[in-house]
Amino acid sequence: MRYSNEKIISVLLLVLTHCSIAFSSDDLVLGKKLYESRCAMCHGGNADAAGPLAQKSNPPTPDLTTRAFKERLIDYPGVIVGSVVLRPNGNLIPNTLRQNGIKLPAHTWTEDELRALNQYMLSLIQGKPVKIDGTP
Ligand code: HEC
Repeated sequence: MRYSNEKIISVLLLVLTHCSIAFSSDDLVLGKKLYESRCAMCHGGNADAAGPLAQKSNPPTPDLTTRAFKERLIDYPGVIVGSVVLRPNGNLIPNTLRQNGIKLPAHTWTEDELRALNQYMLSLIQGKPVKIDGTP
């Protein structure tokens, strides 16, 4: 039986796509775990500020699924990772957690974890999983 180039390429594409889906879903599982344990109490399971502490922080926790935040992501694609690494709001998060009796052990983020968290939050915000392209 002869295979046309087209068929061979289709099969190769299928294999490649499958590999990247497997990789990205692992990443999304890790990202979800991190997000749900460290962010969702304020930001909510869907990033729409429906977490139990959303109104307890000052200012209140913003909805990250709005058009305004999507535009911010386009202007500043590092905003999610930046919010974790640069701690632009100082002690706002630890203080809010403490005032509400929530104990969250300190965490040293690895690059892979930051990437996974970023991918997971993008998938929440954009409503669909995004392609992993290796950028943090
Ligand atoms: C105690 C509640 C709380 C927790 C926990 C929390 N956040 Fe936030 N987050 C906030 C508040 C409040 C703001 C808005 C701060 C402001 O406007 O100054 C915010 C803002 C943000 C923004 C928008 C930043 C911007 O510049 O537009 C991102 C992204 C974000 N948080 C990500 C995260 C991630 C990721 C985690 C978990 C690792 C997390 N947050 C955990 C309360 C929280």
